[in-house]
Amino acid sequence: MSEPAFQRRGLGDVIPAPAEVRPDPAADFTIGEGTAIRTAPGSTEARRIGEYLAALLRPATGYALPVGEDSGEIALLLDPTPDLDADGDFDGAPDESYRLEVTASGVTVWAAAAAGLFAAVQTLRQLLPAAIDASGPQQGTWVLPGGEIVDRPRFPYRGAMLDIARHFFTVAEIKAYIDSLVQFKINHLHLHLTDDQGWRLEIDGWPKLTEVSGGEGTGVDGTGPGFLTRADYTELVGYAAERFVTIVPEIDMPGHVNAAQVAYPELTADGVAVAPRTDMEVGYSSLVADKEETYAFVEDVVREVAALTPGPYLHIGGDEAQATTAEDYRTFIQRVLPLVAKYGKRVVGWHEMAGVELPETAIAQYWRIEATDEGTARAAANGSKVIMSPADRTYLDMKYTPDSKPGLDWAGVINVERSYDWDPADRLPGVSEQHLLGVEAPLWSETLRSLADVQTMTFPRLPAVAEIGWSPRATHDWESFRQRLAAFGPRWRNQGIAFHASPEIPWT
Ligand code: ACM
Repeated sequence: MSEPAFQRRGLGDVIPAPAEVRPDPAADFTIGEGTAIRTAPGSTEARRIGEYLAALLRPATGYALPVGEDSGEIALLLDPTPDLDADGDFDGAPDESYRLEVTASGVTVWAAAAAGLFAAVQTLRQLLPAAIDASGPQQGTWVLPGGEIVDRPRFPYRGAMLDIARHFFTVAEIKAYIDSLVQFKINHLHLHLTDDQGWRLEIDGWPKLTEVSGGEGTGVDGTGPGFLTRADYTELVGYAAERFVTIVPEIDMPGHVNAAQVAYPELTADGVAVAPRTDMEVGYSSLVADKEETYAFVEDVVREVAALTPGPYLHIGGDEAQATTAEDYRTFIQRVLPLVAKYGKRVVGWHEMAGVELPETAIAQYWRIEATDEGTARAAANGSKVIMSPADRTYLDMKYTPDSKPGLDWAGVINVERSYDWDPADRLPGVSEQHLLGVEAPLWSETLRSLADVQTMTFPRLPAVAEIGWSPRATHDWESFRQRLAAFGPRWRNQGIAFHASPEIPWT
């Protein structure tokens, strides 16, 4: 009996769209019983990525897919000068760049760095039929479309943010989220760790932050208790790093600090304890700019978070500080900037921070819905990089339709086309291509109660932002995107990932 054929994929049926795609339909390769994976000689990183690929392919194929350095039809090779664009010019190609060639005899990936092999593996996974994501053996032929892909990211920073302060998500849930994100070449996960309703990271010397403000009854409506121990956080950072994801920790200051002030009344102006809050208000709490206790606290927290975080960034929030006077805000930010530098990190802040003069190394994250922002433009002109997260395009907590649930709608309702149909280099006057570090899609958790809620708000909009961050602008095309996105319905179902079945997408 012949095996049923799966739908053959096209070489360009990938999200984010690769930079260059040259199909050769006469050169398809079929993964079979005897296929093996060969990795770059002497590279433990390449070997580990080979094992990662094998683990992705084994359940559905049922094949052994041994991984070794001597032979194998699927080769993951490190080459310091891979031919990464049409004119053979490798200058300045980022680590995530790769070349992938499928011929009738096999598949070869070349990259200068392990991050490029990992990115190529995500492409390879998408080139296989959706059945590859099933958790058990599937009958069919595993055809990879022939030809060549040469690929590289448009921006170095392509992020997602998860708010674990308004609702806590466990280590296992955050790991699952990372696994869902990396398929779209997302390489940063910003964790919003603290806010008015909860404090979610254990800090040495300040145990009540998590004992009191990470415990029962915390989070919006009191439904999201929990916190990451130092060991949990370290485990997450390591899990992310194995997937080429940098964790960006955020301690939101000087506003959004009610949970800290519940735990430590000395952080309030009069030293009197404040009541815990589980509502969704913002802009009512503030650290005290002219109190030395404030900076002792902030320095301890910054030192600790920096020590636990191998990545280069530390996000200090700085948004919605309506309970802080402009003068106090400036005083506070100017005291905190050198502390972040002292502990070896590059500061990121929501763009309100750019109202204060910043060092060139500081990064402003634009999040509002206005058409202009003077502070962000000035910071860009002074050499700071910008991360684009306009709420009316990238906020994953906005509703898809006026009546969809969960979600909020203060920045509008955002369907898939709206999350796709914009460009970060056109979003703000004074902020163009060369000023951008990249893009990020934040997910705030006031209305979320489960990992399924997280997934439903993330998919299918996150792939739109991921493509804007990775793919060359010339590839941008809504009709092409919605067709490519349609193929993810069965993939997500096979992976057990919930998604919103947006009517704009011709789901298969
Ligand atoms: C924000 O949405 N307050 C950054």
